[in-house]
Amino acid sequence: MALTESVPTAPSPGHEGILRRQAQRESAARTYARSLPIVPVRARGLTIEGADGRRYLDCLSGAGTLALGHNHPVVLEAVRAVLDSGAPLHVLDLATPVKDAFVTELFASLPAGLAENARIQFCGPAGTDAVEAALTLVRTATGRDGLMAFSGAYHGMTTGALAASGGARHTAVTRLPYPYDYRCPFGTGGARGAELAARWTESLLDDPKSGVPDPAGLIVEPVQGEGGVIPAPDAWLRRMREITAARSIPLIVDEVQTGVGRTGAFWAVEHSGIVPDVLVLSKAIGGSLPLAVIVYREELDTWPPGAHAGTFRGNQLAMAAGRATLAHVREAGLDRHAAALGARMLARLQALAAVHPCIGDVRGRGLMLGVELVDPEAEAGPAGDLPADPGLAAAVQRACLDRGLIVELGGRHQSVVRLLPPLTLTDEQAEAILDRLADALEGVREAPPGSGRGATGTP
Ligand SMILES: Cc1ncc(COP(=O)(O)O)c(C=O)c1O
Repeated sequence: MALTESVPTAPSPGHEGILRRQAQRESAARTYARSLPIVPVRARGLTIEGADGRRYLDCLSGAGTLALGHNHPVVLEAVRAVLDSGAPLHVLDLATPVKDAFVTELFASLPAGLAENARIQFCGPAGTDAVEAALTLVRTATGRDGLMAFSGAYHGMTTGALAASGGARHTAVTRLPYPYDYRCPFGTGGARGAELAARWTESLLDDPKSGVPDPAGLIVEPVQGEGGVIPAPDAWLRRMREITAARSIPLIVDEVQTGVGRTGAFWAVEHSGIVPDVLVLSKAIGGSLPLAVIVYREELDTWPPGAHAGTFRGNQLAMAAGRATLAHVREAGLDRHAAALGARMLARLQALAAVHPCIGDVRGRGLMLGVELVDPEAEAGPAGDLPADPGLAAAVQRACLDRGLIVELGGRHQSVVRLLPPLTLTDEQAEAILDRLADALEGVREAPPGSGRGATGTP
């Protein structure tokens, strides 16, 4: 399958009918399917082939799940080996050789300091369930109930995870400011903004009349993904570690999206060198199949048997695919590759920002990149930030799809174009992605007002 081609081949008659039936039968809550009306039928690496006969470069990668892209040979081989071996596919949380090998590979990858005395809990197969497990774990271990979390965070859609996320309403979670250079809550940005954010956390914890009781834990993403691709400064994360350690507050780091090389280190916490008390892991650790775990310091392991149960915690195919993925990222040094290639892509995005006033900010770490689209005609905020332009972002996403490029939108106002390509991305593929994005931006800019802003025929 050619990797960078988007010329229509023979369209399948199923394409329109499948999309029509989906719209008729599936829930109003469906998400990606609304903005990406494609019908994937085959996929390999970066490329998806649709039932419309077109090929698309997939920069969504299952929302960051596909570290090795679609159907990587090492993943397929690992899955086939389990299928051919006659091993049971469902075993609740019983021990198996497949699970044993997965845990050994995962523990070998952990940051020093956590690896020595780590425990693992297999969770229901979604990141959100692992977040719930982390909350139960620290609540049991500390005997406390409250939680600290950040504005703009995303931790999942179940009750506890949702409560910890930025969109939560009426919860007992204390919301802290996350350093966001472009839209700094303190109007300063930079190291000063991050320092003020850390001081606010400290003051809430130390002021006996702050109205915030000591929490059971503090949960943080090293890069806010859904929140708009906002990397936490390393020095600030180290301050968060110091602040929580000094007050015996377990630090939960949610690496559901940043893990397995995505940010240019195997685990994103390695950039700052902090050792979390709890790591929440999902997405890439299952090698494209559903898997979620928490890994934590054994001192926290005070919860009773069954404290976090679930039928589907023993997915053998996911463990085999996950072990193969972790090993391949390690052996091929794909974390370092992501760091180097991501830096080159960021530089090219910065060059694009210089000629497109509608790009307010570009940022990211490794192969987790974001382009924040703004209204350049509007009045700037105190720190020079311009209002988000979600309409423009949606038009750019459509224009990208027209050019055979799948991108996702994120951020507070759905105005950040997100690039999450597989870590196996080549220089040539990266160029093709950025060419299409640049062309889409150009197309949207040139399109006359009211014309659909450069979209050419995508429903
Ligand atoms: C940082 C983070 N935590 C948790 C989740 C929830 O994972 P899931 O969608 O598998 O429940 C996500 C999903 O995008 C995420 O990005």
